[in-house]
Amino acid sequence: MAADTWWRDGVLYQIYPRSFADSDGDGIGDLRGILARLDHLEWLGIDGIWLNPTMPSPNEDWGYDVSDYCGVHPDLGTMEDLDALVAAAGKRGMRVLLDLVPNHTSDRHAWFVDALSGREAQHRDYYVWADPAPGGGPPNNWESNFGGSAWTLHEPTGQYYLNNFLPSQPDLNWWNEAVRDAFDEMLRFWFARGIAGFRIDVCHAIVKDRELRDDPAVTAEDHPELRRRSLKHVFSMNRPEVHDVLRRWRALADSDDPPKILVGETYVLDLDQLIPYYGQGEDELHLAFNFLFVHAPFDAGALSAVVAGVEEKLPEVAWPVYTGSNHDAGRLATRWADGDERRARVALMMLLTLRGTPFLYYGDEIGMPEVPQDAETALDPVARRTGDPSDNRDVCRTPMQWSDEPGGGFTTAEAKPWLPIGDLAACNVEAQRADRGSVLHLVRDLIALRRDEPALRSSSYEPLATPDGAWAWRRGERFAVALNLSGADVTVDGVDGRVAIATNRVRDGETVGGAIELGPYEGVMVERRT
Ligand code: GLC
Repeated sequence: MAADTWWRDGVLYQIYPRSFADSDGDGIGDLRGILARLDHLEWLGIDGIWLNPTMPSPNEDWGYDVSDYCGVHPDLGTMEDLDALVAAAGKRGMRVLLDLVPNHTSDRHAWFVDALSGREAQHRDYYVWADPAPGGGPPNNWESNFGGSAWTLHEPTGQYYLNNFLPSQPDLNWWNEAVRDAFDEMLRFWFARGIAGFRIDVCHAIVKDRELRDDPAVTAEDHPELRRRSLKHVFSMNRPEVHDVLRRWRALADSDDPPKILVGETYVLDLDQLIPYYGQGEDELHLAFNFLFVHAPFDAGALSAVVAGVEEKLPEVAWPVYTGSNHDAGRLATRWADGDERRARVALMMLLTLRGTPFLYYGDEIGMPEVPQDAETALDPVARRTGDPSDNRDVCRTPMQWSDEPGGGFTTAEAKPWLPIGDLAACNVEAQRADRGSVLHLVRDLIALRRDEPALRSSSYEPLATPDGAWAWRRGERFAVALNLSGADVTVDGVDGRVAIATNRVRDGETVGGAIELGPYEGVMVERRT
């Protein structure tokens, strides 16, 4: 695999560090724990790891409220632990991406503490401050993503500061050159420690409208996820000037040796808004997460339409990225598969065979489901604010299920895990490793085939005509993928050869002569005989 295109060719894996593996028995996952589990990732065939936030934070939003951008959270370990993890992963051919949170800091970051000290404070202008509206009240109508006004009044200085998330997450002012310089320095600091790049948090949102114009109301035509709110983020986010910042970071990433990569959380639910984040000919993000895909229902028509759009509109130099789970949206085994293992298998086959880079979320490889929890006792600040159980992100952040022993192989039998552990008997790594027919082996075999066959990494995506409920495509001359995303039997034509991998493993090796019948939620990858 070429060093400079590893992120296009490889499979990436997202780890929520508090929940992966606990090395010191305090019930919280940590960096040494991840290091001790690298075997699993190497065995699976992973090329790169994205770690959710690792920096010091009061954890109001579990690391997404950073109080020191050049440190390591004591819950997770030390800088030496991080260096050791990056080095050990590197020895096994795996790169490590950190999470960069540039939209906001914690309210306990030294800059904000200083900014609160008065209107003339050195760091006042690092944040977005505005006077009250003429009649009093917030300066404009902007809404926080986490509910309520996006403005918080700081009474001692008589101004409001902007918080697009929690009041304890004040938004930085990206119009201030000093903020840009400070982040350049931070990027250089981490690049020098040998990380492979960053996943950039709410990357589309960092620059705000300079005039702070009101956001318009959502309309009936907007994506259902947008319609959950009352306003469209036209001025509070996704401003054209964000691209200047991304170009600046890309230049920094490219000038490093080896070059670093930038993966953006580009939460725009419109393809025409997403594509510009790739820049003009490789000068912005390497990969821009596609939330249209993440939020598409598990339906052949809906998912294939998103992919068709990407295939049609993405410029040739840009590269798609697909994921079915993450620490905000939930887990594919629950949201797409609704607990049906056949559906989880077909979803995983889809992710690992489309043209683009797949990101797996820890636990996807065993079809790990979400773990239902009450909103009232949630650790997730969003669920606590809204009281809506469907907002509770704790359900998809529970400990990795390594084995069925007490503590699940995540922590000791005595420790209280920071979030409850799911049903270990029903789903764990150890049991699935011992079972050749398991979801885990399916995922590993799909990754291995992808590694062995250049066509599965780089060749084109050519959709085939299918009946309703099915979705099929060719990758190059030799491979075809046929998926049944429905509960009825379907027949897919135009496929011949031998089944290389089937979601229902008893069908591996079957001969296909021009058409294949697929049972409910069955998928196959067929290799043409030459
Ligand atoms: C991103 C993160 C999410 C966090 C939010 C605020 O959306 O993925 O977990 O709560 O940003 O930082």
